Formats: sequence, structure tokens, C-alpha cells
Amino acid sequence: MLRDATPADFPAILALNEAFVKVLSPLDRDRLARLHAQAALHRVIERDGRVEAFLLVLREGADYDSPNYRWFAQRYARFLYVDRIVVAADTHARGAGTQLYRDAYSLASRDAVPFITCEFDIEPPNPASERFHARLGFREVGRQQLHGGRKTVSLQALDVAAGNTPLGDDGIG
Ligand SMILES: CC(C)(COP(=O)(O)OP(=O)(O)OC[C@H]1O[C@@H](n2cnc3c(N)ncnc32)[C@H](O)[C@@H]1OP(=O)(O)O)[C@@H](O)C(=O)NCCC(=O)NCCS
Repeated sequence: MLRDATPADFPAILALNEAFVKVLSPLDRDRLARLHAQAALHRVIERDGRVEAFLLVLREGADYDSPNYRWFAQRYARFLYVDRIVVAADTHARGAGTQLYRDAYSLASRDAVPFITCEFDIEPPNPASERFHARLGFREVGRQQLHGGRKTVSLQALDVAAGNTPLGDDGIG
């Protein structure tokens, strides 16, 4: 079941974030509650009573100190920013991530938001995320180093108007 996240989901969302914190940024309950309150989209996939995936998306204008969010805010007037997406390890590569991104794409199309943005790690690399986003039509628009050079991210954008993504079709995911 794909549905909106509620505060009752926060423990499960925090656990998913913690499981992949090396490729995300740390999250605690207060920070999650602030992001949830500002989210343009906060969705979970629940199966048999278990939250197995979530997606949290912001629009421009959010009060958020993430250097990656700020990178986009300085360059794009209107955008969706995928702050984080996590699918439980035992559910990877079964279409959950694509299903969640379909919601972001629908929102962007509906509200005529020209870009969906995100980043993934390239040093150290996150090959699953890189392949996942490339398959959906995301392209690199910049890079930046974080944590004093210990991490490099690829900043990515999907041009919604161009329509060159499988997210608008029914043939994938
Ligand atoms: C990245 C992630 C969200 C993808 O979600 P998913 O539900 O596994 O992806 P889907 O099943 O919708 O899509 C499958 C595609 O994702 C990519 N993918 C998923 N798991 C992969 C893996 N272990 N290795 C390589 N590619 C992988 C592939 O491109 C795959 O399609 P393909 O094999 O036809 O090329 C998921 O792997 C995840 O939660 N990873 C841990 C957290 C994370 O990295 N989040 C993103 C931070 S930027």
C-alpha cells in the first residue's frame, strides 16, 4: 500500500534511514518532524503492516540547511528536491523505488514544476542509486564535496518537461 506518511511511521522511517545512513544524512525525530511538516510529498510503502520504503520530497522555499538542498535553491527557481528515498534491503530491485518516484513525477507534472532534483554519493560511490537514477533519466548538473572532502556527491536533475523518463509510462517499475 502506497500512502502518505504520518507521525506514527516515524520510528520505521528513522530505522530505514539509520540502516542506510552512510549514503544519506543522519536523522533524528525532531529533524524528521521538521522535514515532514515542510514536505511537498512524504510517502511510505506499507506491506503486511511493515513500512518497507519511504520518500521525502521538498519544494523550493523550504527552511532546510542541507548543503545539497541549498545548492539547488541557489540555482533553480522551481523544483522538487528528493531529500531521501530508502527501500528496505530485502525489498530492493522490486520496483518500490520507481513506484515512489512516480508520485514525485505526478506531482511535478501536475504543478508544472520543471525539475526533480536529488543527489547521490560518488565518492565513496553508491552504484545502486546511480544506476537507479540514470535509468529514470536523471542527469548530473553539478558536483560538490562535503564533510571536508570526505564525501563527493553528484547533483542530479530530471527535466520533467522533456518527458524523457519512464516515470510517465506504465512500462517500467
Ligand atoms: C536506490 C534505491 C532507492 C532504489 O530502489 P529500488 O526499489 O531498489 O529500485 P527499483 O526496483 O524501483 O529499480 C530497480 C533499478 O534500481 C537499480 N538498482 C536497485 N538496486 C540495485 C543494486 N543493488 N545494484 C545495482 N542497481 C540497483 C537498477 O538500476 C535497477 O534496475 P535495472 O536492474 O533494470 O538497471 C534503493 O536501492 C535504496 O533504498 N538504496 C539504499 C538507500 C539509498 O541509496 N537511497 C538513495 C540515496 S541517494
